[in-house]
Amino acid sequence: MRIALPKGRLFEPSMRLLKDIGISADAPENRSLIIRSNGYEIMLAKPSDVPVYVTNAADIGIVGSDITEESQPDVFIPLRLNFGNCRISLAVPSGSDIRPEDMDGFRIATKYRNITKKYFDSLGLDVRIIPLSGSIELAPSLGIADAIVDIVDTGTTLRENGLSEIHKIIDVYAQLIVNRISQKSKFEEINNVVTRMENVIENGY
Ligand code: PRP
Repeated sequence: MRIALPKGRLFEPSMRLLKDIGISADAPENRSLIIRSNGYEIMLAKPSDVPVYVTNAADIGIVGSDITEESQPDVFIPLRLNFGNCRISLAVPSGSDIRPEDMDGFRIATKYRNITKKYFDSLGLDVRIIPLSGSIELAPSLGIADAIVDIVDTGTTLRENGLSEIHKIIDVYAQLIVNRISQKSKFEEINNVVTRMENVIENGY
């Protein structure tokens, strides 16, 4: 079975969950991006690429719901996991009393173009999206955006960059995603993984 895992903050809890369901593997000490253990192949991917791997090469994967919400991949999502909880929020320079409904024509920096467009469309507003792929919090202070839409966890990054959260757009959490063909061709194996994960999440074993 091939498993795609995201590098970054979901990596460790994902490896722990695999270990808890009996798929033990050590994180590589070198730059290798594949771990082979007991018939499993664990592929380490950039988080936003996990659905691409699961659609084309892996049987299952773990990914944040921000990624699936943004890219709407053609995968089966059988399980919400109990880690990776955070949110996607709209933030503006601290001290500003601007409200989301006042943002028509604003420049919004984000890596979540679709989520951002959908949110402002729902308010009937037309904004200009400034697409970035990281360090989004820099954009307002450099004058290239009026606001940002980004992941907020503890709120530290916003605070330390002079920004304040004014609206939560969606909750984010880790999910198990499954390749649609594998879901049929490896049904028992995958069902077994899902059941074991459910047991660990619900009962701790
Ligand atoms: C995310 C996000 C924020 C930060 C928020 O970045 O883009 O910058 O975490 O966390 P906080 O509210 O606890 O400060 P991450 O470190 O995951 O890396 P990224 O910039 O590659 O997305």
